[in-house]
Amino acid sequence: MSSPTLPSASLHTLNVCPTLINSSCAWASDLDDLTELYECEWTGAVVCRTATWNGFKEGEEHGVVFGKDMSNATLTTLNTYGYSPHPLSQYLAWIRELFANAPPRSNPSKPFIISITSNDPRELKEMVASIQTFRKDMGDIPSPSSPSPTCRIGIELNTSCPNMGPSHPPPSYIPTLLLPLLTVLADAFKADRSLTLGLKLPPFVHRGQFDAMIGATHMFTFLSPSTGEVNPFAYFASTNTLGSGLMFNEMVHMEAPSFIPNQTSSEASSQSPSPYALSTGGLAGAPLHPLSLGNVFTFRSLLATYPSSAMRGIKIVGIGGVVDGAGWKRMETAGASIVGCASIFGKEGVEAFVFVAAHL
Ligand SMILES: Cc1cc2nc3c(=O)[nH]c(=O)nc-3n(C[C@H](O)[C@H](O)[C@H](O)COP(=O)(O)O)c2cc1C
Repeated sequence: MSSPTLPSASLHTLNVCPTLINSSCAWASDLDDLTELYECEWTGAVVCRTATWNGFKEGEEHGVVFGKDMSNATLTTLNTYGYSPHPLSQYLAWIRELFANAPPRSNPSKPFIISITSNDPRELKEMVASIQTFRKDMGDIPSPSSPSPTCRIGIELNTSCPNMGPSHPPPSYIPTLLLPLLTVLADAFKADRSLTLGLKLPPFVHRGQFDAMIGATHMFTFLSPSTGEVNPFAYFASTNTLGSGLMFNEMVHMEAPSFIPNQTSSEASSQSPSPYALSTGGLAGAPLHPLSLGNVFTFRSLLATYPSSAMRGIKIVGIGGVVDGAGWKRMETAGASIVGCASIFGKEGVEAFVFVAAHL
């Protein structure tokens, strides 16, 4: 496979080549993971695991399991993770370290997409400000007069983790929770129009949810004297895992690269250990694929006919059950400009991208 024919796509100021990426996940957590993803010729960008301001406290209830049948056609994961234990500042330090090395030959401007989240708009504002300060330090903020700049750092707001408990539902399901967060991002974009912003969305299951998400995003469209209608959001990453899944012990593969949390001491000593491999969590892999395809297709169809030209320009990163080249093609046909994978990456490591890219 030779590089010159690799497909590329832009996400606002980011150049993604090839149009295959990892999606934010537990296997994009630390410096080793990020180094491998950055150096891999078959990922067009690196998406970090979702970071919080202070780092997420992981406990024994957090983990991931693979379904018993590990063949790609049925590859299934269920995870109960929250967010990365590493704080945002750690990701910025790692990206600085990686940018000090020679960039990958396949794409000298290969970007990092920093996935972040917070329920608190004030905290989110601080997080975005620290990324912007970092971008400035790294020379990643071009002059406003630069005609078509290429940047190397973007921000993805994770609005869709299903594992945060009853007090923190995924904000994308509840527009009143989402709007203050989108306001923070939109303000940052207005202050620096080179900033690439994406939203990681949950699987939606009826038309009203798609309309509400598009409506909430369109509230931030504004008129620019020089360029006409602009929307701050470059892309929707669709979809995250589907919440509230449950797998019994007999359904999971015990030797897979899973992390099954230890049973608590009371469970371990009880006469009847839990029949469940994990508590309820986010379902991904092959069982999610049709729903993710439907989400990508619905967003693309609704955006393509939207009256606002700025909304029509929002791109879709298709994620969910892509485990081979055929899945990548289906995502593209459904409307994705770029395709992301997590579960197959968890199973195979970065070799997964070579395999998925084999249809090129
Ligand atoms: C173990 C695991 C951890 C994940 N962690 C994150 C995360 O931190 N942030 C995020 O936006 N999505 C996270 N995801 C969701 C994935 O990015 C992806 O949207 C989902 O798994 C569907 O893709 P897949 O079928 O290729 O796995 C995680 C998925 C898995 C399996």
